[in-house]
Amino acid sequence: MYQIIYKSESLIPESESENQIRGILETSLSNNQKDGITGLFLLIENRFVQMLEGEESAVLACMARIEKDSRHKDVKVVLKRTTESRTFPDWSMYFYKLNGDEALQKIGVEKLESLGISNWQDHFKDNLAVMLVESFARLASH
Ligand SMILES: Cc1cc2nc3c(=O)[nH]c(=O)nc-3n(C[C@H](O)[C@H](O)[C@H](O)COP(=O)(O)O)c2cc1C
Repeated sequence: MYQIIYKSESLIPESESENQIRGILETSLSNNQKDGITGLFLLIENRFVQMLEGEESAVLACMARIEKDSRHKDVKVVLKRTTESRTFPDWSMYFYKLNGDEALQKIGVEKLESLGISNWQDHFKDNLAVMLVESFARLASH
């Protein structure tokens, strides 16, 4: 099993957000089911964080399509790993929208402060993206 987490910046204007995201989700659900990919798709204000998991070749092919997509920019892979099992076995692509404050709460503000980070938007570090996905992983296992 192979997992990738990336982060990117959305280029979708706020006024088109709902429609565009719906379109991305429709495509993702049908492609991912066919490709044996599961995962998590987060929109945090204007940032995307997504985890894709499945067979390595399928995940890499999907990632290659996503990287070329003009609806976002600054796509940066923050984690790649092989694992024994899926983190989100039941989620073809679970979408969740949250604001910066909610993201902070999910991660645990104390932890963030201990990293010396005060402003989430300005310092959306790689490890914060991973921590956010991991906080949803705990949710998925309950
Ligand atoms: C932020 C973001 C996340 C995406 N996630 C997925 C995904 O999980 N699976 C997928 O197949 N396409 C995803 N897409 C869409 C791909 O970039 C691409 O448009 C699509 O895979 C093409 O599929 P099609 O050839 O069936 O139209 C995503 C696009 C964006 C902008």
